[in-house]
Amino acid sequence: MRIFVSGSRGMLAHSLLPMISREHDVVGVDLPELDITNYAAIESMLRVERPDVIINCAAYTAVDRAESEPELCYAVNCEAVRNLAALATSNNAELIQISTDYVYDGQKTTPYFEDDPTGPQGVYAKAKLDGEVALRQTCERHYIMRSSWLYGAGGNNFVSTMLRLAKETDRLKVVDDQTGCPTWCRELARAIALVMGSGKYGTYNACGGGQTNWFGFARQILQLSGMDPEKIQATTAKEFGLKAPRPSYSAMDCSKLERAFGWRPRPWQEALEEYLST
Ligand SMILES: NC(=O)c1ccc[n+]([C@@H]2O[C@H](COP(=O)([O-])OP(=O)(O)OC[C@H]3O[C@@H](n4cnc5c(N)ncnc54)[C@H](OP(=O)(O)O)[C@@H]3O)[C@@H](O)[C@H]2O)c1
Repeated sequence: MRIFVSGSRGMLAHSLLPMISREHDVVGVDLPELDITNYAAIESMLRVERPDVIINCAAYTAVDRAESEPELCYAVNCEAVRNLAALATSNNAELIQISTDYVYDGQKTTPYFEDDPTGPQGVYAKAKLDGEVALRQTCERHYIMRSSWLYGAGGNNFVSTMLRLAKETDRLKVVDDQTGCPTWCRELARAIALVMGSGKYGTYNACGGGQTNWFGFARQILQLSGMDPEKIQATTAKEFGLKAPRPSYSAMDCSKLERAFGWRPRPWQEALEEYLST
C-alpha cells in the first residue's frame, strides 16, 4: 500500500515509520515542508502521492500551553483533521487519526470502553474530541486510535523527563491522583500497522496493559534504570498545579482491538523494561 504520514518527525512517527516501511511504500512529511492547517498544501501533496492510507501523526501536543493558545490548538487538532478527512474522502484514501484518553470524562473507576461517556476537560482534550467528531462526519473510511501516556525514542516524554530530573535532583514530586495506562510508541505503532487497510473502520482504544498513576510510573522508571525510587515523592495534581486539567482516571480497555485484530496490550511494566533496555 502507499501510505502518507503527516507529523513524520514526531515521537510516534519515529516508531511507526521504520515498522511500516518494511512492507509498504511510505512517504512522511512534517513541518516546515507540510503544515496540516494548509488545505491547499495537503491537497497538492496528495494529488502527487496518491496514498491508499493517510496516517495523521501530526498534532499540537503541548497540553498545558494549549490553555493559552486555544486557536492554534484547535486549528491543528480539529480544523486540520476535518480538512484531512475531506481530502481523504475525495482521494479515496483511508484516514487514521490518533486521539487521546483525555477525551474521557474521568469519572469511572474501571477502564473506559470506546462508547463510554466523553467529557474532555482542557483545551487540548476538547480540540482532540472535536477533531474526532469532525472526522466521523467527513470521512467514512476512518480509524480513530485513542492512546495514552506515550513514551518512546525521538521525543520528549515523561520517561525521558524523569530520567533527566532524577540525575539532577535528590527529590522529585510526582502526582499520585491521576491513573492511566503508560504506552510505548512501538506498541501503538504495532496496532496502527494492523488496522490500516483492514476495512474494520471505527474507534479503538490502544494503550499499554494494566494501569498505574504517574507516581507509580515514575518509581518504576527509576527502579528499572538502577536509580533510587525513593527519590520520588507523591503529591496531588492540585498541589502540583499544572495549567491544564486532566482526568483523574483514564485507563482504557483495549478488548475491541483484541477481538478485531488479535492485538493484545503488553503489561506496561514489561514494555517499559524493554524500552529502557534498548
Ligand atoms: N504524547 C502523548 O502522551 C500522547 C498521548 C495520547 C495521544 N497522543 C496523540 O498521539 C499523536 C502523536 O503524538 P506524539 O507524542 O508523537 O506528538 P509529537 O511528538 O508532538 O509529534 C507531533 C508532530 O506533529 C508536528 N506538527 C505540529 N503541528 C503541525 C502542523 N500544523 N502541521 C504538520 N505537523 C505539525 C510536530 O512538529 P513540531 O514538533 O515542530 O511542533 C511534531 O513533529 C498525537 O495525535 C497526540 O495527540 C499523544
